[in-house]
Amino acid sequence: MVSSISQTSILLLLLFYASTFQKGMSNNLREVRCNEKDRQTLLIFKQGIVRDPYNKLVTWSSEKDCCAWKGVQCDNTTSRVTKLDLSTQSLEGEMNLALLELEFLNHLDLSMNNFNAISIPSIPNDVISDSNLQYLDLSLSGYNLSMDNLNWLSQLSSLKQLDLRGTDLHKETNWLLAMPPSLSNLYLRDCQLTSISPSANLTSLVTVDLSYNNFNSELPCWLFNLSNDISHLDLSWSSLHGEIPLSLFNHQNLEYLDLSHNMFSGSIPSSLGNLTSLTFLDIGSNSFSGTISETHFSRLRNLEYLHLSNSSFAFHFNPEWVPLFQLKVLDLDNTNQGAKLPSWIYTQKSLEYLDISSSGITFVDEDRFKRLIAGNYFMLDMSNNSINEDISNVMLNSSFIKLRHNNFSGRLPQLSNVQYVDLSHNSFTGSIPPGWQNLNYLFYINLWSNKLFGEVPVELSNLTRLEVMNLGKNEFYGTIPINMPQNLQVVILRYNHFEGSIPPQLFNLSFLAHLDLAHNKLSGSIPQVTYNITQMVRSEFSHSFVDDDLINLFTKGQDYEYNLKWPRATVDLSANNLTGEIPLELFGLIQVQTLNLSYNHLIGTIPKTIGGMKNLESLDLSNNKLFGEIPQTMTTLSFLSYLNMSCNNFTGQIPIGTQLQSFDASSYIGNPELCGAPLPKCNTEDNNHGNATENTDGDSEKESLYLGMGVGFAVGFWGFCGSLLLLRKWRHKYYRFFDRLADQLYVTYMGKFNIFVNREAPVS
Ligand SMILES: *[C@@H]1O[C@H](CO)[C@@H](O)[C@H](O)[C@H]1NC(C)=O
Ligand SMILES: *[C@@H]1O[C@H](CO)[C@@H](O)[C@H](O)[C@H]1NC(C)=O
Ligand SMILES: *[C@@H]1O[C@H](CO)[C@@H](O)[C@H](O)[C@H]1NC(C)=O
Ligand SMILES: *[C@@H]1O[C@H](CO)[C@@H](O)[C@H](O)[C@H]1NC(C)=O
Ligand SMILES: *[C@@H]1O[C@H](CO)[C@@H](O)[C@H](O)[C@H]1NC(C)=O
Ligand SMILES: *[C@@H]1O[C@H](CO)[C@@H](O)[C@H](O)[C@H]1NC(C)=O
Ligand SMILES: *[C@@H]1O[C@H](CO)[C@@H](O)[C@H](O)[C@H]1NC(C)=O
Ligand SMILES: *[C@@H]1O[C@H](CO)[C@@H](O)[C@H](O)[C@H]1NC(C)=O
Ligand SMILES: *[C@@H]1O[C@H](CO)[C@@H](O)[C@H](O)[C@H]1NC(C)=O
Ligand SMILES: *[C@@H]1O[C@H](CO)[C@@H](O)[C@H](O)[C@H]1NC(C)=O
Ligand SMILES: *[C@@H]1O[C@H](CO)[C@@H](O)[C@H](O)[C@H]1NC(C)=O
Ligand SMILES: *[C@@H]1O[C@H](CO)[C@@H](O)[C@H](O)[C@H]1NC(C)=O
Repeated sequence: MVSSISQTSILLLLLFYASTFQKGMSNNLREVRCNEKDRQTLLIFKQGIVRDPYNKLVTWSSEKDCCAWKGVQCDNTTSRVTKLDLSTQSLEGEMNLALLELEFLNHLDLSMNNFNAISIPSIPNDVISDSNLQYLDLSLSGYNLSMDNLNWLSQLSSLKQLDLRGTDLHKETNWLLAMPPSLSNLYLRDCQLTSISPSANLTSLVTVDLSYNNFNSELPCWLFNLSNDISHLDLSWSSLHGEIPLSLFNHQNLEYLDLSHNMFSGSIPSSLGNLTSLTFLDIGSNSFSGTISETHFSRLRNLEYLHLSNSSFAFHFNPEWVPLFQLKVLDLDNTNQGAKLPSWIYTQKSLEYLDISSSGITFVDEDRFKRLIAGNYFMLDMSNNSINEDISNVMLNSSFIKLRHNNFSGRLPQLSNVQYVDLSHNSFTGSIPPGWQNLNYLFYINLWSNKLFGEVPVELSNLTRLEVMNLGKNEFYGTIPINMPQNLQVVILRYNHFEGSIPPQLFNLSFLAHLDLAHNKLSGSIPQVTYNITQMVRSEFSHSFVDDDLINLFTKGQDYEYNLKWPRATVDLSANNLTGEIPLELFGLIQVQTLNLSYNHLIGTIPKTIGGMKNLESLDLSNNKLFGEIPQTMTTLSFLSYLNMSCNNFTGQIPIGTQLQSFDASSYIGNPELCGAPLPKCNTEDNNHGNATENTDGDSEKESLYLGMGVGFAVGFWGFCGSLLLLRKWRHKYYRFFDRLADQLYVTYMGKFNIFVNREAPVS
């Protein structure tokens, strides 16, 4: 539920870096002369770089004085290099850690680059043991970067902060031994670590991030011997199990504790309530049992972020309890809260993120509930409960509103400032309130499956940012507005009572990718316009959705809810009263994966150009009055896995030698003059004809049939799923790095980018 923000945050972060870096590095009028040895060491590093898209290293040859090189800082008196910051430069090539030979280097940051190799020279012990390096950041410095061992680290005796997030360290099984005892901040997130030794001497640690590893072990003892100064402990997503010892909660300075997404079991120690400094707590997605109650939180007066989602323990909170804390973030999704919304939640007046979806809530305290949801949230998610309230007189002020799958009734609520609203699967009635036309930031609206009626107001065209409009499965009537918001990507008006003709302007929406007007009373012909505007013809198919937003999709003869972050192009005009021929240009929408024109009164033939719709997976032309032969070019549609041509007037032989034969007869029945596999053989005359022109004898026909299927399947699977896998791999890499940052970010999302500013912005 946070993923959309993560991506946004990555972008923003990159933008931020891109802009600040430029400013930060421009004061180079110092009159320091660079040390020759330092200069040579820097040049060795430069030799490894094969690509430097922002030309950061140009000055590394034009300027004589290496202290004036971009990213380099020297000490004013000794002129020795003390700091090197080349983060976020998309540098490619080899990361040569000969840099560690810079005797006075104190701060080295090579994070967020695209290095593809690391070279760690064997440096004489005495050189490094004098190391002054205190800060080392190699996080996300390249995709798939790995290190065989970390032995070189043990020599960095002054090191205080080590950040290797995203580096593959799976070969290093003794990484703890290599850590210098001086360390106070250790970040090894997503390093593919598989072992964690039970003892270590890291008693100075203040910050520990070992998340997203695969330890498959219990909590190591040394964690409990940490000094009382430990303030940040992130062990999430690390395959840890066993019970949580009481002593973990002796660390009175702990501010941030994330144990989520492990397999911890047993009950939650009530000494948790002693962590008075705690501001962030996440223990969700574990196997804890027992109950949790106000005693666990008794003294947590500083708590601001509480994540307990996906937990099976029982929640037993005294209805009179008033917490000492005021939360900013409360995440209770997929928990068992009992039928009543816990009263203590009403006491929280600073919430910016509230997720109590899928928590079994049926009853709420009407007045307090209305005040609660009227709050000014970044995210308000109460979906998938059974809340049965009339909220028509409530003004919702949140940016993201998710109330899907409840029993809300009455008219739609008033909205202001909303960007995203999902009220689908409820019992709302009435028409779209006039106030909704002023929602200047709205980009997503989902009203699927309610009892709404009335006409769609023409003023909706003023919602210039609207990208997804799902009004399906309601009782809307009237004509489809001629002017639709120009940024629409998804238009779903399915299962309503719209009438009149399809406005040609719909096909002028240049980002349109999903058009579903099925099951209405639309008449007239499909507009004869140029279809070459929409996304559905572009070779670069893209759209901007990244969240887990579900959209109703009907394809391959079934209903699905699919995730918007996987682009799918759809045209579904089925079950209307459309007449006339199918415009030839419709078959030029080469990105379309689902085309459904069934149950209309369409006439005419299928053009050869249908063979160009290479992405077609589901084609339904059934129950029309189409005629003529099925074009041979359809045999090239190798992703096609659902086909329905039935109940038309097609004639001749079904093209052979491809997976067109892999569909069963029901795909073709109801065409009296259509023949050939999988339908009965054509009569002799036709067969001879086919024999002569196609020149196929039995064996090679079979062969090509199987070949056709095989290739179709292989291409289909790897072309579609394969690329997804690859993409996902990248995505996770970045998600892992940013998800927690994002967790904290959504509260500052609306223009306040504090977190970025605090993070290592180079100062000029
Ligand atoms: C070093 O020189 C820079 C630029 O002249 C100056 O801003 C900075 O304060 C100096 N630092 C010290 C420690 O003197
Ligand atoms: C990542 O590294 C693994 C093994 O080190 C290798 O098999 C894989 O091909 C690499 N992937 C990429 C995209 O470089
Ligand atoms: C923890 O500290 C105690 C004494 O302070 C020591 O006896 C024990 O060996 C330490 N355990 C580990 C795992 O370092
Ligand atoms: C911890 O330090 C002590 C002495 O400083 C040493 O004897 C012991 O081996 C160290 N333990 C580990 C696990 O490094
Ligand atoms: C909290 O700590 C105090 C000592 O500081 C201890 O007496 C008490 O039992 C602890 N509370 C819980 C709930 O563990
Ligand atoms: C919920 O927690 C269980 C373990 O209790 C885990 O297997 C599952 O993946 C978690 N689900 C999510 C969506 O995190
Ligand atoms: C909806 O909530 C119930 C529990 O109330 C849960 O079992 C189910 O998985 C949830 N469905 C979704 C789609 O989250
Ligand atoms: C919609 O925008 C037009 C101009 O773009 C404006 O004249 C009209 O008043 C707006 N309608 C509403 C309901 O805001
Ligand atoms: C669309 O097609 C028309 C005519 O076929 C052509 O004039 C126009 O340039 C095309 N537009 C695009 C964006 O390809
Ligand atoms: C379809 O349109 C014809 C006229 O074009 C009309 O007679 C008929 O009633 C319409 N059918 C439906 C179901 O609207
Ligand atoms: C099919 O075509 C034949 C002649 O080509 C025509 O007589 C018949 O009415 C058509 N059937 C339909 C359902 O259009
Ligand atoms: C093709 O025609 C030849 C004779 O022209 C005949 O022997 C053969 O059986 C025919 N093949 C098929 C598949 O009908």
